[in-house]
Amino acid sequence: MASNRKIMVLPGDGIGPEVMGEVARIIDWFGTHKSFDVSIDHDLVGGCAYDAHGAAISDAAVEKALAADAVLLGAVGGPQWDNVAYEARPEAGLLRLRADLELFANLRPAICFSALAEASSLKRELVEGLDIMIVRELTGGVYFGEPRGISDLGNGQRRGINTQVYDTYEIERITRVAADIAMMRSKKLASSEKRNVMESGQLWFEEVNRVIATDYPAIELQHVLADNCAMQLVREPKQYDVLVTDNLFGDILSDVAAMLTGSLGMLPSASLGAPDAETGRARALYEPVHGSAPDIAGQGKANPIASIMSFAMALKYTFDRGADADLLERAVMQVLDKGLRTGDIMQADMQLVGTSAMGDAVLQALDELGN
Ligand code: IPM
Ligand code: MG
Repeated sequence: MASNRKIMVLPGDGIGPEVMGEVARIIDWFGTHKSFDVSIDHDLVGGCAYDAHGAAISDAAVEKALAADAVLLGAVGGPQWDNVAYEARPEAGLLRLRADLELFANLRPAICFSALAEASSLKRELVEGLDIMIVRELTGGVYFGEPRGISDLGNGQRRGINTQVYDTYEIERITRVAADIAMMRSKKLASSEKRNVMESGQLWFEEVNRVIATDYPAIELQHVLADNCAMQLVREPKQYDVLVTDNLFGDILSDVAAMLTGSLGMLPSASLGAPDAETGRARALYEPVHGSAPDIAGQGKANPIASIMSFAMALKYTFDRGADADLLERAVMQVLDKGLRTGDIMQADMQLVGTSAMGDAVLQALDELGN
């Protein structure tokens, strides 16, 4: 009998298909060994979708994504699409999915495994044991604000416009997501904006203060200007636990946080919508934070761990399988402890492996730990 839970896989461009190939094997493992029963569908997103349909995602693929319990996405983009029309660029497919599925809450955990502390560009003592959760607003701000565009001023000048805009409800709902997570962790929350320059930042500051003061009195709230936050993240990253911020600052600060963990190749993410009023289920898309890495695409060198850990987040947040998510995380840790490394996290005296050998090792660790 076909399962009533659905995963939609969108491998995308560059290294996306390679890393998602390893995720497919992991999903199979949970099917065989843990009765994880899902039906899986595939489609195109990004440059490959543009090549096939002239758009970065087809309406049919968006419809399927809307009907799925979880979307697993690889990566989008590459230099071969540098000259396509702006609306059709590969990233537009991802942004349309975020908008149409209303995935306003992007969770980006930055965890430094002690086996990888040396792979970080920061000193071991600064990053060892690091465990930050960045909560990035994902459907508002300058990414989607209107007016936007490039206009011709007619005097030989052109003007590029984007609008940073946030309404109360957008700030409130992302603050609640972050605060709920903080309540399950250390009850410490940092919020980041640029209220010294931007009214939208001032509103962000005021609304975060209001929500926390009204509904989360147990939380210790700290505000940090986004530029200072970037600096603090490389100065003393362990001062943060949960960090909530807007779409653009979240994009930047999560890349900074990623590097603390050793490599962008390690960072998963979950993008969640509001829970459905009837079913209680939230729409969700899981993707690695890294991009399509065109320089190593097709060579079997990419690190599949960020994608595998994104699937672990799907097990936890969409499928209520916390124990399976923990098992998968432990399997990845065991592989790292054994000294296996893809190129992005390679260190002296470790064993360099490719994408599929890393997948093999995770499967083997699952066999050892999970049976
Ligand atoms: C990310 C990426 C995307 C973003 C791009 C690919 C549109 O950098 O998910 O962080 O800017 O949000
Ligand atoms: Mg980014």
